[in-house]
Amino acid sequence: MIVCHCLVVRDTDLRACALAGARTVGEVLRATGAGSACGGCSVAVRQHVKAALCQAHGTHQPLEDAAGVPDPEVVHAAG
Ligand code: FES
Repeated sequence: MIVCHCLVVRDTDLRACALAGARTVGEVLRATGAGSACGGCSVAVRQHVKAALCQAHGTHQPLEDAAGVPDPEVVHAAG
């Protein structure tokens, strides 16, 4: 299923990124570009990313991005 239509990013792409070693929402967003154009998919994309990270790493909560690393969603909203 495509979760970001602007960048044609699928839920399977997000899961693959998490399985490839991404540990935070920001890492997946930066690696895939999901949510970086119109931003209309941001809420759904973040939900998919969090689920993918938890599934890939066997946790209930994904790791937080390091302090000082801009959250792509916040950067997009401000721009
Ligand atoms: S649908 Fe994802 S950035 Fe536009």
